[in-house]
Amino acid sequence: MATTAPAKPHNAPPSTKAEIVDVRYPHKELVERLSPGGRYIDAQTDVDSPWVPFGDTAAIKHLAFDVRRNLFSNILWVKGPGVVGTHLHRGTITMVCLEGSVKYLEYDWVASPGGLILEVPGEAHTLVTDHPDGVKLFGWMEGPIEFYDDNGDFSFTADVWWFIEHYENYCKEQGIPINEKLYL
Ligand SMILES: [Fe+2]
Repeated sequence: MATTAPAKPHNAPPSTKAEIVDVRYPHKELVERLSPGGRYIDAQTDVDSPWVPFGDTAAIKHLAFDVRRNLFSNILWVKGPGVVGTHLHRGTITMVCLEGSVKYLEYDWVASPGGLILEVPGEAHTLVTDHPDGVKLFGWMEGPIEFYDDNGDFSFTADVWWFIEHYENYCKEQGIPINEKLYL
């Protein structure tokens, strides 16, 4: 009777040496020439990106724009109990609740700090926070997002270009230099 091979142990990473190791990746020169490069964006302060008003009671801190894939990253801050109107996603949304709490009228859960929210194309929903401090949501999002009015009629589309314009218009208005680091 054939015996089952013993399960492979789950190995820890091979080294604990805190030193740069050359991995001899064969495409290193191409990466250096063509890659937009990884980067660090300070999301805790306004050094890399300011809070840009989003209506009267909310603000967005833009963190990254990728025009090739219609991707954008930001923190949405609803500053007290409030609503972000009904919208329909055409792309996939990944969000983490950082502070406060948030729910959607269409679902039965309430997100609290540390919680992960996944949204998929074709979903329409209405974001509500009942928390006295509102909510801060970090998002890595794919557009477009279509907003609808109270009658369910199409209002406008927010895609990567909309988010870039939202950021740049505010910077121009306030005399804040555009941060090239936000553009992937
Ligand atoms: Fe959404």
